[in-house]
Amino acid sequence: MAFPKGFLWGGALAANQCEGAYLEDGKGLSQQDVMPQGVRGPVTNQPTPDNLKLIGTDFYHRYREDIALMAEMGFKVFRFSIAWSRIYPRDEVEPNEAGLAFYDRVIDECLKYGIEPLITLSHYEIPLHLCRTYDGFRSREMIGFFLRYAETVLRRYHDRVKYWLTFNEINVTLISPLLGAGVMTPKDQLSAQDRFQTAHHQLVASARVTALAKQLCPAIQIGCMAASAPRYPMTCDPQDMIAMMTSQQELDYFIHVHCTGEYPYYAKRLWWENNVCLEITEEDRQALKHTVDFISFSYYSSKVVAADESRYAMANGNIMRGLKNPYVPVSDYDYPIDPEGLRYILNYLYDHFHKPLFVAENGLGSKEELTPDGNGGFTVKDQARIEFHRGHIQAMARAIDDGVEVFGYTSWGPIDCVSAASAEMTKRYGFVYVDRNQDGSGTLQRWKKQSFDWIAKIYRSNGADLD
Ligand code: BG6
Repeated sequence: MAFPKGFLWGGALAANQCEGAYLEDGKGLSQQDVMPQGVRGPVTNQPTPDNLKLIGTDFYHRYREDIALMAEMGFKVFRFSIAWSRIYPRDEVEPNEAGLAFYDRVIDECLKYGIEPLITLSHYEIPLHLCRTYDGFRSREMIGFFLRYAETVLRRYHDRVKYWLTFNEINVTLISPLLGAGVMTPKDQLSAQDRFQTAHHQLVASARVTALAKQLCPAIQIGCMAASAPRYPMTCDPQDMIAMMTSQQELDYFIHVHCTGEYPYYAKRLWWENNVCLEITEEDRQALKHTVDFISFSYYSSKVVAADESRYAMANGNIMRGLKNPYVPVSDYDYPIDPEGLRYILNYLYDHFHKPLFVAENGLGSKEELTPDGNGGFTVKDQARIEFHRGHIQAMARAIDDGVEVFGYTSWGPIDCVSAASAEMTKRYGFVYVDRNQDGSGTLQRWKKQSFDWIAKIYRSNGADLD
């Protein structure tokens, strides 16, 4: 088993979960600044002090230290997102130069260490003014705002940044329109028509940005990004198989449009069942034809489904939950841990879409405590994280042996950050601990966890030394 030469090992972070500095240097508010408890809590009128994202883990001021730690871990790539609200705080015509200059510094710092920057244009973060005025991507006008923002940053950074993603986990829009698309209307007041139309606007926006990126710089590699929990049927009951198939199609729907330039055949059934009649203009159809170069996805675990789910217990999970799988262990948070699911989804996506794959997120969220490291400092004993990544990297290696084309792996939250679904600091994914507590206290100092040296060994040996 061998990872290809030049395989991109690294980690991924999102602006709203790590940067903080929520009003510094001209940044505007985003929907995240009024979601103190993530998707599980209320939206507030103004930012409130209990919102941990306002300070985050202070990446805005500590990016040099953080990128140096990434270099020490042997990163070849750093996936981060640009905060749209730093570049266009509201609906301006001219961008905010201080915001652009910040990402110049971040990119240059990466390049200094030979780390390839990979930019997500929109990672669960949209200027609040646009969310409030247009109800986010529920309105078609958002396509124009997104294009303006994307063009600005593509023009500014394209000579230094080869890899780009449009929307983080674009399929989450159907599940959480606020998180994924900045829709302020509460989900229970939205029809399926609203949610699918919102997703359509994002798919068109994604395709138009793809076209623009290629026109600006043909060397750019641009990908889509989807939350990819592969579906398993609870039993071999044919009805469970059909439930599995249709659930999987809801995920594939997004990747299919990005890869083939049109909606899949089963979209008609999906729309019909949900009473949806999409408004798709001829211009939209032409725009969608601009397909991506690669597929990126997050993988945390598989998801079990059944025709009659009321007969089974639910598993825990972040935004997408399935049924309890008796064959796999669970994390501190009771989330299923299933490395084989990564081999499966890699094969599945390659088989269906024939595009190079990039594992954009994978990681273990756990509750952790600092303990003395014996040298006057502190550490975290996170053997469970080592086992988690070992299992998943081995599964990815098997998929490569199966013949799947995978060109990179970025672990989620390599330096602890605020969680997305519940906006908490307690759940941590990093190889580096950040001293910030749930009540907001803490020095923000960084401490290497036990997993730090282990992952550095894996990354530096191009995945050869997995012991
Ligand atoms: C992914 C998101 O869904 O999962 C990240 O792209 C998020 O933004 C990650 O942080 C882990 O989820 P959570 O809610 O535990 O932070």
